[in-house]
Amino acid sequence: MIVAKTIAEVRQQVREWKAEGLVVGLVPTMGYLHEGHASLVDKAVSMCDRVVASDFVNPTQFGPGEDLEAYPRDFERDCKLLEEHGCNMVFYPSVDEMYPDGNGSQDTYVEILNDMPKGLCGKTRPTHFRGVCTVVSKLFNIVTPDKAFFGQKDAQQLAIIKRMVRDMSYGIEIIGCPIVREDDGLAKSSRNTYLSAEERTAALVLSRSVRLGQQMVADGEKSTAKVVAAMVEMIEAEPLAKIDYVQAVNNFDMSPAENFEGSVLVAMAVYVGKTRLLDNFIIEA
Ligand code: PAF
Repeated sequence: MIVAKTIAEVRQQVREWKAEGLVVGLVPTMGYLHEGHASLVDKAVSMCDRVVASDFVNPTQFGPGEDLEAYPRDFERDCKLLEEHGCNMVFYPSVDEMYPDGNGSQDTYVEILNDMPKGLCGKTRPTHFRGVCTVVSKLFNIVTPDKAFFGQKDAQQLAIIKRMVRDMSYGIEIIGCPIVREDDGLAKSSRNTYLSAEERTAALVLSRSVRLGQQMVADGEKSTAKVVAAMVEMIEAEPLAKIDYVQAVNNFDMSPAENFEGSVLVAMAVYVGKTRLLDNFIIEA
């Protein structure tokens, strides 16, 4: 596997692959990889001739007081996992390589101006999706992939990136990949590493509430308010959990959904101790 630290190295290699007519896939990550990321690489390998993963903790998507410095990093372990799963190149840039102004920032941003980035995670992280869209745009311009792979766990991010790609005519196919869970149901996340043993057990309330919501819909419940209320009640009964949001929205534009009609995303962010965890499910009716 090629380890590229500069934009120039990536461009050169991708140019060669494209000259051979190869289909290039991109798996953007912030590193500290787990089986969820591995599933994205597997999917990319199955659909592309060459796969590039980026491994970059992007400062512009962290707000003041968030966990930018504490975010876990282990590049050697990441390389091992990527190589084992058939990744051809990892792009591992420095902050200055990505943001050459030297302050982990820049003057040009990519931002969606409708309400999609304002609700759900955007309520407590108002500049987060601007940072995500900006770095993903940069990665798209650097790698110029044919396809790019994102996890469904970050459902709002996935919807926003799809919209950005459409609005900016990127011509890149965006593939959403299912949530990967631990055996006991907890959605895999790099941030799970922050949890103490007690919090790790408490965190299971997220996937339990997902199963409750799914079951209610399977039993015929059509009202999103009733499903969300039951999920909230379950989460609130866990003393270590504090809800940021549990909401049902239209899966394409993130607008509030009253009934399970069309494609509805039921998404949550819940603090367990100090760790903010995400989970969700989608109902296609
Ligand atoms: O989902 C993530 O890990 C990040 O938001 C992404 C897409 C790699 C951008 O930094």
